Amino acid sequence: MNPAVEVDRLSWTYHLAARPAVCDISLTIPAGEFTLIAGPNEAGKTTLAMAIKGLIPHSFPGRRAGVVRVFGEEVQRKEAALLAKQVGYVFSDPEAQFTSLTVEEEILFGLENIGVPESEIEHRIRRASELTMISDLLDKPPYDISGGQKQRVAIASVLAMDPEILILDEPTSMVDPLGKDLIVEICAELRRRRRLTLIVIEHNLEAFAALADRIVLIRGGRIERAAAPREFLEDPEFLERSGVYPPQVTQVFARLRAHGLYRGPLPLTDEEGIRAGDALLRGAGA
Ligand SMILES: Nc1ncnc2c1ncn2[C@@H]1O[C@H](COP(=O)(O)OP(=O)(O)OP(=O)(O)O)[C@@H](O)[C@H]1O
Ligand SMILES: [Mg+2]
Repeated sequence: MNPAVEVDRLSWTYHLAARPAVCDISLTIPAGEFTLIAGPNEAGKTTLAMAIKGLIPHSFPGRRAGVVRVFGEEVQRKEAALLAKQVGYVFSDPEAQFTSLTVEEEILFGLENIGVPESEIEHRIRRASELTMISDLLDKPPYDISGGQKQRVAIASVLAMDPEILILDEPTSMVDPLGKDLIVEICAELRRRRRLTLIVIEHNLEAFAALADRIVLIRGGRIERAAAPREFLEDPEFLERSGVYPPQVTQVFARLRAHGLYRGPLPLTDEEGIRAGDALLRGAGA
């Protein structure tokens, strides 16, 4: 089976920019995987996502080298309607995407746009709203709800279109802590189902590291590191220098390990940290 995404030596320079926004990036994402893309501001994360979505080069002038393939077919050669259906993209500022008076119309708008048959519409809206926990918001105006709710409405609108690849660009950047937990929960559920290929862009790894199959660090337009989460987080000092923050529990155990006080694998979640801490105390005879 073709990988969901193949980026092959992609470089992209926006029109009149002094240097490329992404430079010689190669990345293969197998279907069904959850990839977390991390990196500091201006690293090129959104540019890479837009190249996968086909917005680059379609909607932006600039210079490109290399290719991006989605399910084996070059993005530029793909029929626009098919690509729009296959790749769903949620911007970090969801409000920019809203055009309707109610949340339900907002989801409906996308479905009508891609020609979903009338008979399927109600089911699609219900399924996407349940998954994103917005069923009680369907008759509300999309601009009159919280940041987290807006983000979930935007995710629902894209999920209802049944994409094969879903890209969430900094989905928690405008969301309060409770709203953030819900978005993490949605991602965990999507990962559990493994029906789609999930790409999440986030520079705070706290919540998502444990869910990802692979974490890719982009900096200055290049891939600096790509590895499974535990391996990726092995060197928290390098990551902090790169503007990427490992989960706090991972940072604590990395420090213990650096001082020879811990030898086990680095925990990625609080639960793993508690178990590792208990084992450490037992070993110390506590
Ligand atoms: N439309 C554009 N026109 C010109 N230059 C752009 C455009 N969009 C982004 N850039 C430049 O491309 C580089 C990469 O930006 P990009 O938005 O891809 O980074 P990012 O990693 O998503 O950053 P952030 O974390 O701030 O969202 C930056 O130098 C940015 O200024
Ligand atoms: Mg960005």
